Amino acid sequence: MPLSFDRTYAADALASLDGADRESLDARALDAHRRVLAGDTRSPEMLGWRQMLLDPDDALLENVAGVAAEIRDRADVLLCIGIGGSYLGAEAVMQALVPPFSDDGPEILFAGNHLGPDYHERLFEYLDGKSVYVNVISKSGTTLEPALAFRLARRFLEERFDDADRRIVATTDADRGALHDFAVERGYRRYVVPNDVGGRFSVLTPVGLLPIAAAGIDIRTLFYGAVAQARELEDADASAPALQYAADRYAFHEAGYATEVMAVMDPRLRGIGAWWQQLFGESEGKEEKGLFPVVLQYTTDLHSVGQYVQQGQRTLVETFLRIDDAEAGPSVQEEDGDPDGLNYLAGTPYGTVNEKAYQATAEAHAEGGVPNWTLTLSRLDAETVGRLLYFYEHAVAVSGTMLGVDPFNQPGVETYKQKMFSLLGKPA
Ligand code: PA5
Repeated sequence: MPLSFDRTYAADALASLDGADRESLDARALDAHRRVLAGDTRSPEMLGWRQMLLDPDDALLENVAGVAAEIRDRADVLLCIGIGGSYLGAEAVMQALVPPFSDDGPEILFAGNHLGPDYHERLFEYLDGKSVYVNVISKSGTTLEPALAFRLARRFLEERFDDADRRIVATTDADRGALHDFAVERGYRRYVVPNDVGGRFSVLTPVGLLPIAAAGIDIRTLFYGAVAQARELEDADASAPALQYAADRYAFHEAGYATEVMAVMDPRLRGIGAWWQQLFGESEGKEEKGLFPVVLQYTTDLHSVGQYVQQGQRTLVETFLRIDDAEAGPSVQEEDGDPDGLNYLAGTPYGTVNEKAYQATAEAHAEGGVPNWTLTLSRLDAETVGRLLYFYEHAVAVSGTMLGVDPFNQPGVETYKQKMFSLLGKPA
């Protein structure tokens, strides 16, 4: 099975919660699931992330792959400009699937995903002398961070390349917004962020697909992995892992748990964690509801916040995200005299040590009062990652619907923007 879900260390804690009987939880999750399938959710017009998988646009996939091939051929660097849902998905898939230290294809860099002054200064110094392409991604076309970075990037390209306009690909709204209008005026190549797909659900649209393809990843396999997962969930009953996950989370939320840790057991999964963090945080965190999502990387973070997870406030639940790769990596060598006392591990692959660390941590955290689930990927490849993306998208739609919030809006992110624009003196 490409994805398997283990509830062992959540089941006992759930059984002890008042009013969390399995039958009513399952019924509630199934009802929310059916509402998602039937489009009977809040903001039903925002379900395009499902529809595009049920009705795949192969011509679009091919077109994106073609432009990505040109970028791979001509660019030393692809600069992806975007924030939130306009970059996290691409970064997540690349971190998962591009081997570390690989120098195959262009370097993929990000900008406009924060307002760091030093980064944006040194970035363009670093790009000087390189063949640069830019993919500017903004659904609204008005978000400050990417818009500022795009100004810098545009000037940089125009001062250096006769074909500057050819080197810019804009991914934005189909027919409105400042970026759309500017791209039309300049004749940039354009991709559309569909109206019915919110930023955090957009990784499998050109928002994510172009940078992912430029990184050398097979986007068709990725996309069709998500299609397979979506089709399986069409016929799912309450025992489907995505529904069990949503149901369990709901029960803990109602019992007063406040935080969900996603503990990734491999650094390649950290970006998936960051993408999940936005997906769940923005989808559930409203009307004073939702579990606060936090991504941690184990075993690294066991040596920083592991103490808190084991013994701090008992309001945490945890999901381990891992790869079934016990045989992977270098094996520990035997050493004469056993100077560091590690010969007992001789012949053991890194993957096995990591697996034992996971097993030990899941058990210790459960015993310490942190109910936990484990989602295991049978392997880390494009198909499985595609499946994983849809697993979480569907789960959060079900979970948000169970909570009674609108999983597809994000009204809260406007508040800081209004205050910031007022401080910056933006004209009315
Ligand atoms: O999920 C979302 O909608 C947000 O994270 C947006 O993706 C983010 O704010 C960027 O917006 P835009 O693509 O309009 O620039």
